[in-house]
Amino acid sequence: MQIDLGPCIVRDWHRDDRAALARAANDRSVWRNLTHRFPHPYTEADADRWFALLARMPEPTHWAIEVAGEAAGGIGVELGEGVYAKSAHFGYWLARRHWGRGIMTAAVRAVSDYVLARLDVVRLEAPVFAWNPASMRVLEKCGFAREGVLRQSVFKDGELIDAVLYARVR
Ligand SMILES: CC(C)(COP(=O)(O)OP(=O)(O)OC[C@H]1O[C@@H](n2cnc3c(N)ncnc32)[C@H](O)[C@@H]1OP(=O)(O)O)[C@@H](O)C(=O)NCCC(=O)NCCS
Repeated sequence: MQIDLGPCIVRDWHRDDRAALARAANDRSVWRNLTHRFPHPYTEADADRWFALLARMPEPTHWAIEVAGEAAGGIGVELGEGVYAKSAHFGYWLARRHWGRGIMTAAVRAVSDYVLARLDVVRLEAPVFAWNPASMRVLEKCGFAREGVLRQSVFKDGELIDAVLYARVR
């Protein structure tokens, strides 16, 4: 997959993104807003583990966000199983140096359209940590509805916090 959005390109990950990925991802302010599956510090060995995981996936569901010629973030979905087979968890992050330029709004809009049109899912959901209003704003701009508050559901960075559940349905 490759979608050119002007200021960024959403595309498949390549193994030669290794150094750029580690550089962009090794940031506490990125890690702080993501689940425990995103390591910190983030090394090139973590990037290799990520590429190995992608290679084992049955279909591509995670993509790089390229800015100015190099991978600077990630976006993708985790497909649900069993009764949740028609739902997917939506996640994304961007290198801090590119924040505030509308890049993630463009990427979330394009990838959520793509996933709902091309994969066999009807619902995309994203639980956002309560301290992350920028991410909530991105989702609102992309047509996700605020469905509720998952009270004290997340323990991150030593704090017990609420998550706000956003979702978009086909
Ligand atoms: C959240 C994140 C993805 C946003 O990416 P981005 O490219 O900076 O987002 P955009 O520029 O497209 O839009 C950000 C919006 O949030 C708003 N915003 C930023 N900080 C804000 C704050 N503290 N309070 C309220 N709104 C805020 C911006 O003004 C903008 O909205 P606007 O266009 O209406 O002005 C990025 O900061 C990031 O990667 N954070 C770390 C990882 C993360 O949080 N991932 C999401 C997990 S749910």
